[in-house]
Amino acid sequence: MNDKTLPSAEAVGLPRRRFMNSAALAGLGLGLAACNQKPEAAPATTAAAGGTAAPAHAPNDPAAPPGVHPRPGELDTYYGLWSGGHTGDVRVLGMPSGRELLRIPVFAPDALVGWGITNESKQIMGTKADGSLRYTVADTHHVHASYKDGNYDGRYAWVNDKINSRMARIRLDYFVCDKITTLPNVQGFHGIFPDKRDPVKADVNYTTRVFAGGEFAIPLDGKATDDGTKYRSLFSCVDAETMELRWQVLLDGNCDLVATSYDGKLAASNQYNTEMGVKYEDMMSAERDACVFFNVARIEEAVKAGKFKTYGASKVPVVDGTKAANRDAKSALVAYVSVPKNPHGVNATPDGKYFICAGKLSPTATVIELAKVLDYFDGKVEKLDQVIAAEVEIGLGPLHTAFDGRGNAFTTLFLDSQVVKWNVENAIKFHKGDKSAKYVVDRLDVHYQPGHLNASGSETAAADGKFLAVGCKFSKDRFLPVGPLHAENEQIIDISGDKMTLLADHPVRGEPHDFIFFKRELVKPKQVYALDDSPLAIKDPKEGGVFRTGKKVTVKLTSQAPAFSMREFKVKKGDEVTLILTNLDKVEDLTHGFAIPTYNVNFIVNPLETKSVTFTADHEGVFWCYCTHFCHALHLEMRTRMIVEA
Ligand code: CUA
Ligand code: CA
Repeated sequence: MNDKTLPSAEAVGLPRRRFMNSAALAGLGLGLAACNQKPEAAPATTAAAGGTAAPAHAPNDPAAPPGVHPRPGELDTYYGLWSGGHTGDVRVLGMPSGRELLRIPVFAPDALVGWGITNESKQIMGTKADGSLRYTVADTHHVHASYKDGNYDGRYAWVNDKINSRMARIRLDYFVCDKITTLPNVQGFHGIFPDKRDPVKADVNYTTRVFAGGEFAIPLDGKATDDGTKYRSLFSCVDAETMELRWQVLLDGNCDLVATSYDGKLAASNQYNTEMGVKYEDMMSAERDACVFFNVARIEEAVKAGKFKTYGASKVPVVDGTKAANRDAKSALVAYVSVPKNPHGVNATPDGKYFICAGKLSPTATVIELAKVLDYFDGKVEKLDQVIAAEVEIGLGPLHTAFDGRGNAFTTLFLDSQVVKWNVENAIKFHKGDKSAKYVVDRLDVHYQPGHLNASGSETAAADGKFLAVGCKFSKDRFLPVGPLHAENEQIIDISGDKMTLLADHPVRGEPHDFIFFKRELVKPKQVYALDDSPLAIKDPKEGGVFRTGKKVTVKLTSQAPAFSMREFKVKKGDEVTLILTNLDKVEDLTHGFAIPTYNVNFIVNPLETKSVTFTADHEGVFWCYCTHFCHALHLEMRTRMIVEA
């Protein structure tokens, strides 16, 4: 809140924090009946709160808490992968500084790289019959990376596109998107998570599958109907290597976020719309919703045994995961664990024991014991509710949970604008009746309305409990105003001690959702391509030239700073021109650009990389094709002429 332009909290007779909450509640238009009781809580740390407090330490004060910003020339100790949100990209950050190092274009075009301009990127993104991009909009939410032995192995990361139900893979050697898969019969694909090892084969200790939760229910026959009872949501499994669909599960209710177990046996998705409501009031009508568990090995046995259907044009096997078909635990493919209404995030503890489902509309977190879930599937648990190890109050609007690897959980409280640190085993003790068990360890105000959070290595067995990043959806008064849209605020918190300490604010362009960050040693980036990576590579400038077959012309060009191999080339008006450019410079970062004025062509080629573009030379003239990416003292002179003759 900007105290200069809005009535102060005190002026309207409310303590500052409650004022924030009321504003948030009014904004959401929610009646949070279940939330009028505050859990017994440690007081919030207020030193860092609000826009009015003077900074606790002057710049360069040696008594200041350890900063996050490395000194000039120093490197960060973690890589971070951030979903870009509705910019459709993935951002690479150095952590803990939060410095943005790269944006990886994925689902939407990018003018720097030429993503969506080059033939190679268009092939990955998908095109219509006329060669134009199928989609130019996207909405990425969750980024998660491939595992080996419970930690990241630096091979891949995956990210979702909620709008068009696509899953993309990022190669973590070159930090590029190399495949995009569309999920059939799915709309609003939200949660995504790779498995951590094979559910059956003990020697496969790495990621082989990626799970995807379909959020919006739709008629699976593709026909228009307003009868919501005919709508369905599917949970999907994609092969991590081929990126093809392995199978899907037909569900009652929707899917939201996804978590996977460290033994590879279980995946789960929280369900906020078990009501299958089509209006938002209907989606909140039930007191409890669910966290649905998937028995991966059993689903794959069912597929093998031919116990599946297909829908529409899709050939992907769909097994029956509805409640009616899964009443017998010993043969069930799925189990619907009841959790309080409209849950949000589901997260796996780094010790492999629990999934934690946050309450969102309930001020609780539900701790689900995975060993008991497996017992349930073996018929050893009488009532499914017995898998719940704890259901404890933690604060208002709990959304996502991260971990320090020392038994503590950190959950964002959207409505309280806080992160609450709580101890999982103490919460279980409290739930079992030991009312002296103090499970809330600390609370810290964040600024403001946090969504996702994550801690260093939090989603791995190597969670190191050092830093916590929090994605605050509103920055309000924290940064200079820049018109109606404020930057978002990502905050870095020191979680190495008992108390959390706020270290830094970072303005970020909207609207990242989820993110992970992990030790820099876990990835081994390659900095120069191999010529053979592209079948089109022009390995020697002498292989270049203009090659014509009827009206189709191929222009083969190489670049070596500060020159292109041809000083000019001629084509005829009406030709379909494919221009192939190989960058023969071999030094890292010696990247060139290639722009053709008035032809909507601009892309970069990295060292020893080959790219191509295809366009119709539909207007006559002389066009100075020039290098757009600074490469050399003679960068401005690095040009060639495209002469389009009438
Ligand atoms: Cu090549 Cu600038
Ligand atoms: Ca609901």
